[in-house]
Amino acid sequence: MQIFEAYHPHEGRYDNMEFYCRCGRSGLMLPRLSLGLWHNFGNITPFDTQRQILCAAFDAGITHFDLANNYGPPYGEAELNFGIHMDRDFRPFRDELVVSTKAGYDMWAGPYGNHGSRKYLIASADQSLKRMHLDYVDIFYHHRPDPETPLEETMAALRFLVDSGRALYVGISNYPADMAAKASQIMQGWGVPLLICQSRYNMFERSIEKGLLDTLDAAGMGCIVFQPLAGGMLTNKYLHDIPKDSRAGSDPRYLKPDMITQDKLIKIAKLNELALGRGETLAQMALQWVLRDSRITSALIGASRPGQIVENMKALAFPALADEELSAIDRILES
Ligand SMILES: NC(=O)c1ccc[n+]([C@@H]2O[C@H](COP(=O)([O-])OP(=O)(O)OC[C@H]3O[C@@H](n4cnc5c(N)ncnc54)[C@H](OP(=O)(O)O)[C@@H]3O)[C@@H](O)[C@H]2O)c1
Repeated sequence: MQIFEAYHPHEGRYDNMEFYCRCGRSGLMLPRLSLGLWHNFGNITPFDTQRQILCAAFDAGITHFDLANNYGPPYGEAELNFGIHMDRDFRPFRDELVVSTKAGYDMWAGPYGNHGSRKYLIASADQSLKRMHLDYVDIFYHHRPDPETPLEETMAALRFLVDSGRALYVGISNYPADMAAKASQIMQGWGVPLLICQSRYNMFERSIEKGLLDTLDAAGMGCIVFQPLAGGMLTNKYLHDIPKDSRAGSDPRYLKPDMITQDKLIKIAKLNELALGRGETLAQMALQWVLRDSRITSALIGASRPGQIVENMKALAFPALADEELSAIDRILES
């Protein structure tokens, strides 16, 4: 059996308290960069690599780890592995962590393992807690809207998760603006406000600018944006080819190579030039770009190795993007 050395987090991890930002009108602060465990924490990634990524993140002050019932591969495996990492390294730091999970996509066979029923959400939350060896999660999300289940039922399930102590806060993910507004209204009426909405946002996918951000702001909800690097496309790695050790090169389930179109590559090359002109990498500029809007609480990144966390954290040290640079980015994206 492999013996793990005890983990001693970096003592200076909270030196920069400006790295934490209030989530909507709540008392909870989230780091500007959070770490997602979507598919680098399943049965493909060596356990020690997972550990190095988690430790690099926590050492850097990233206090928020985001999971879901179906993260892996296979489904459930990321939570199972995270439970082991909790036991080995992070148990003493439980109160320094914001751990989230979700349910809403297909998870187990039959009519009760998918969508938005009370039956599914509560059973799934119990399974997640068991897999992660946790008594509660900090945030539980409904992972995607379910038009077939009354919104009141889904929200009542979230309320129950808070009332029963399984979750400290609850949120929604992938909801359009109108459903988010309705969900927020229901929960506010019950005195259990929705904390946050988790939505995709990056230079190539800007639909949340058309209403959702205003809705969340008005509702006092925070916004955590996933895929700020477009799964790795908004980095310098695909400029010349598809490296074997990249997401698109190693596991097309998570980034199909045909998504990296010629049109995108031309834009990526121009964006890369702009970033280099600022003395930074494209990944760093892409993160600064999503965080330029104060309504965005946190950017939820993925990482396949610890060095990416170190590089991405440096994004916050560069000067903010000037108006002319933002216009130049718009021109590239619209070209
Ligand atoms: N709510 C939802 O429906 C939903 C959906 C998707 C994701 N999410 C959440 O969002 C999280 C992040 O998603 P994502 O991993 O797709 O986001 P992302 O940050 O856009 O992409 C991360 C990937 O980009 C590459 N990368 C990261 N930093 C890099 C750097 N500095 N230089 C070069 N490459 C770099 C790595 O891929 P390589 O393997 O190529 O190195 C890494 O795994 C997930 O873990 C999950 O928690 C939520």
